[in-house]
Amino acid sequence: MEEKLRSINLHKVPNHIAVIMDGNGRWAKGKGMQRVFGHRNALTAIRETADTASELGVKYLTMYAFSTENWNRPKFEVDALMSLLITTLKKELPEFMRKDVRVNAIGNTKSLPKPAQKVLNNVIEKTKDNQKITLTFALSYGAREEIVNAIKNISKKVVNNEMEIEKINEKIINNHLYTFNLPDVDLMIRTSGEHRISNFLLWQMAYAELYFTDVLWPDFRKEHLFNAILDYQNRERRFGKTSEQIETNE
Ligand code: IPE
Ligand code: IPE
Ligand code: MG
Repeated sequence: MEEKLRSINLHKVPNHIAVIMDGNGRWAKGKGMQRVFGHRNALTAIRETADTASELGVKYLTMYAFSTENWNRPKFEVDALMSLLITTLKKELPEFMRKDVRVNAIGNTKSLPKPAQKVLNNVIEKTKDNQKITLTFALSYGAREEIVNAIKNISKKVVNNEMEIEKINEKIINNHLYTFNLPDVDLMIRTSGEHRISNFLLWQMAYAELYFTDVLWPDFRKEHLFNAILDYQNRERRFGKTSEQIETNE
């Protein structure tokens, strides 16, 4: 593990890592337990990932915690996830302060239960001046819903003569997404062996490097994050250019 840490180039750490935390249900089932047991055991993985990312100098970490599609799960499971969210945010606030973590949320958070909105807003407000890392939770998040929402808001401005159609460009669209204050994703990690995006950050991942691992989310630890970052550092991001152009910095 120490050796792995030493091989990480601290000058080339991804600025923004996004994580699809998947496999809680299967992890619990594998232990003969209920799915909710897996969600409860996901917290250590979240904490360890955030701490490690922060120590390595990652500035933005975005965690997919609940999708717009996850509302279709059994009510019992949705309720358990919501109460877990509330208790965790309450409990972790002093730790966020101590670790200089700025908490942020993306998604249709207005659809969360009122008590969850309340603690979430409180944690966001209390941590807003923290600097070390921005930890964003995607809650009731769906990339398509986000884009629809952005189109509606831009259209309103056009109709009200606050914006000209010709002025609409990528930057304007960016500014109307839930992620308006976040940079593009550099590295996306998905656990549990599924090779799909599941409606996460479609616009923001246009040029992200994608990393998939079979590890189930509750088992995800420091060393797994090191592996993902090392893999990322061994890739060449070309953004449409040729390898030669990248080498000569053209
Ligand atoms: C990810 O784990 C957590 C959420 C989607 C909230 P899952 O609950 O999807 O676990 P699997 O994929 O069923 O194993
Ligand atoms: C994606 O996981 C959403 C979260 C991790 C919060 P899912 O388990 O909901 O994704 P699918 O349904 O397998 O694509
Ligand atoms: Mg899943």
